[in-house]
Amino acid sequence: MRITMIGTGYVGLVSGVCFADFGHDVTCVDKIEDKITRLKAGEVPIYEPGLDALLDKNVKAERLHFTTDLAEAVKGADAVFIAVGTPTRRGDGHADLTYVYAAAAEIAQHLDGYTVIVTKSTVPLGTNREVARIVSETNPKADFSIASNPEFLREGAAIEDFMRPDRVVVGCEDDRAKDVMNAVYRPLSLREFPVVFTGLETAEMIKYAANAFLATKITFINEIATLCEKTGADVKDVAKGIGLDARIGGRFLHAGPGYGGSCFPKDTKALARIGQEHAAPQRIVEAVIEVNESVKRRMIDKIFELLDDKAAGKKVAVLGVTFKPETDDMRDAPSLTIVPALVGAGSDVHVVDPQGKHEGEALLPNVTWCDDPYIAAKDADLVVILTEWNEFRALDLQRMSGSMRTAAMADLRNIYGAVRANEGGFTAYQGVGRG
Ligand code: UDX
Repeated sequence: MRITMIGTGYVGLVSGVCFADFGHDVTCVDKIEDKITRLKAGEVPIYEPGLDALLDKNVKAERLHFTTDLAEAVKGADAVFIAVGTPTRRGDGHADLTYVYAAAAEIAQHLDGYTVIVTKSTVPLGTNREVARIVSETNPKADFSIASNPEFLREGAAIEDFMRPDRVVVGCEDDRAKDVMNAVYRPLSLREFPVVFTGLETAEMIKYAANAFLATKITFINEIATLCEKTGADVKDVAKGIGLDARIGGRFLHAGPGYGGSCFPKDTKALARIGQEHAAPQRIVEAVIEVNESVKRRMIDKIFELLDDKAAGKKVAVLGVTFKPETDDMRDAPSLTIVPALVGAGSDVHVVDPQGKHEGEALLPNVTWCDDPYIAAKDADLVVILTEWNEFRALDLQRMSGSMRTAAMADLRNIYGAVRANEGGFTAYQGVGRG
């Protein structure tokens, strides 16, 4: 199969590299020349474990190519994937489809023989039909089909998610497109990974519903965590106790500082907006968005309480600023709310993150960046664990607490628990939802 991937952002790049690893001949296209030059030199612009090695392997096997020339890349392709950004539009929460529609029009001009145009970007219901309309209008002679193929990749585990998916969802409405998409995903269906074929709107909806459901699950446990704190219950045990019920499931039940990242915040807002537009308000999702914001504010209250409401002049060490471990992504990270609140209150904030500095420096001004959690915590009045990087899971608590001015910890990922923290010399400790 000859595959063209338009957009070398997170989704486009991971998908392109993995398709090449399936044995397909893949060309990744981007308008940003510098990005393509770097990719050709084997330089991966994002941090995703395993991606650089897989890219290198497939470039060497001559199955993976990079170019800025969309026209050349589209010619003769069996499937052209659109994997460009759909950021939240300013003001109304709607997904901005400018890049998707521009890509569709450009692809249309260069189609050469039957091609399936596949949308990978997360797009609102009806977008795929609009893409089809744009392609037909731009090139009335085009021989093409449309397919919707949402991605379910978790940053930090994206290659594993691509290679061993729970399912692949493909929305398409004719047999020719189905045949091409079956061939694209044959390496997975041969190994019994389910490939689910649906209509176009259904595939679009599956993506939003899946992310909104997961965001709801997290938000549900975050709200239960608040109640646990008031009643003496322990949310970790509650999550275990309910998660062992197969109908509920234990994943995505970790209480924390609120969800962030490139998908959940954007997709919940877009779904709420779509619901309003169709007079079918998604009230649960609307509540999830609101509660998630309040969770972040609650974390700030917790931190200020540990500082005796006197944050000014106190030194605070923040461990982790990316929205989750194993990524350098800062999009909608809880740190973007929590760190500025501390800086604004006059604290001297020292931050450590194994990958976050490059992205984080511009987003978190007036903080001191450190490479070592122990140096960050020296003489500090509080250490805040915001992202559960492995580096922060097995800290030498005695060493850390012994060097602090006040040995207090806000453990917003529930790594240690009060007993271990106290044994490690911390005199004040707060987790999330732990009685
Ligand atoms: C998510 C979806 O999982 C993926 O299927 C989709 O295609 C893209 O969005 P991602 O944003 O990379 O992936 O990360 P994920 O692991 O889902 O975490 C999202 C956020 O939820 C993070 O801020 C994380 O810290 C938080 N989270 C996750 C919790 O607070 N508790 C949990 O139990 C799980």
